[in-house]
Amino acid sequence: MQRKIFYLFVVSIFAAGIVSAQVPDKFKNLKVLPKDISKEKLLEIMRGFTGALGVNCEFCHVAQENPHKMIFDSDQKTAKNKARIMMAMTHDINTKYLSKLSEYSDNILQVKCVTCHHGNKEPMMLEDVLYSTINSKGIQEAITTYHDLRDKYYGSFTYDFKDHTLVKLIEMLNKDKKYDDAVAIGKLNIETYPQSGVAYYGLGEAYEAKNDKENAIANYKKALELMPRAAEFLNKKIEALQGK
Ligand code: HEC
Ligand code: HEC
Repeated sequence: MQRKIFYLFVVSIFAAGIVSAQVPDKFKNLKVLPKDISKEKLLEIMRGFTGALGVNCEFCHVAQENPHKMIFDSDQKTAKNKARIMMAMTHDINTKYLSKLSEYSDNILQVKCVTCHHGNKEPMMLEDVLYSTINSKGIQEAITTYHDLRDKYYGSFTYDFKDHTLVKLIEMLNKDKKYDDAVAIGKLNIETYPQSGVAYYGLGEAYEAKNDKENAIANYKKALELMPRAAEFLNKKIEALQGK
């Protein structure tokens, strides 16, 4: 895992080196950046984009094959045009809105691409990714996606893999009355965090929504055991269910 990230890091620096050798000194198609920007400054911005979105230059720029050549001034890729809109938006957030706060400082408190994107071209929260996977491809595929994303991103800032994320997802599924999917997500959370009271609480919520009183109480009790600080809240839930 660590080694894989290190390897990717080294390879991406190496690849950026190759690409910069192909970058011309003068630019032909700048619509947002200053036309006389230095090559050094432009490349710093472009590398910022790749890191912020977790992509390479080819995500936005056309690569010609045979011989391999980047055509940086082409606007053929939609991602490049979207990036221009994003550059204008980010600029507006900083100059029109953040500049009105007294704490604002050019150096630190600026929104950058990475502030929203966190190394992700589609800046989505983990629960939203899984929710949309459940809706489009079903629960099994969502569980596979969870494991894949965890292998790839755990320890990075792209997704939040803490126990509470899947509890949020359970609440979203309960609202849609997808109780079996919610129970499956609750079990996945416990498999991942067997010592987490929050994870047992989540499964309890799924069973309660499903009207499975017995399993709801059992999971709330397990949560209570692991998370005594939440005793008042959990005891109320248990008593309410027992009274039903
Ligand atoms: C997220 C999209 C995105 C990524 C990724 C990206 N770029 Fe760009 N690039 C742009 C946009 C948008 C422009 C045009 C900016 C403007 O209109 O002012 C641009 C312009 C350029 C230009 C100037 C082309 C010209 O002649 O007008 C060069 C050179 C360039 N990028 C190199 C790179 C390199 C090298 C990488 C990879 C390290 C890279 N870009 C990654 C979006 C991207
Ligand atoms: C305030 C949050 C925010 C900031 C800052 C931001 N983005 Fe985005 N970006 C988004 C959101 C949200 C989407 C998804 C929009 C959609 O698909 O409907 C997106 C989508 C994109 C896409 C399209 C991705 C795709 O898969 O087609 C690109 C490219 C992009 N952003 C580049 C950038 C760049 C470059 C910057 C910095 C100049 C930036 N963004 C700054 C929120 C942000």
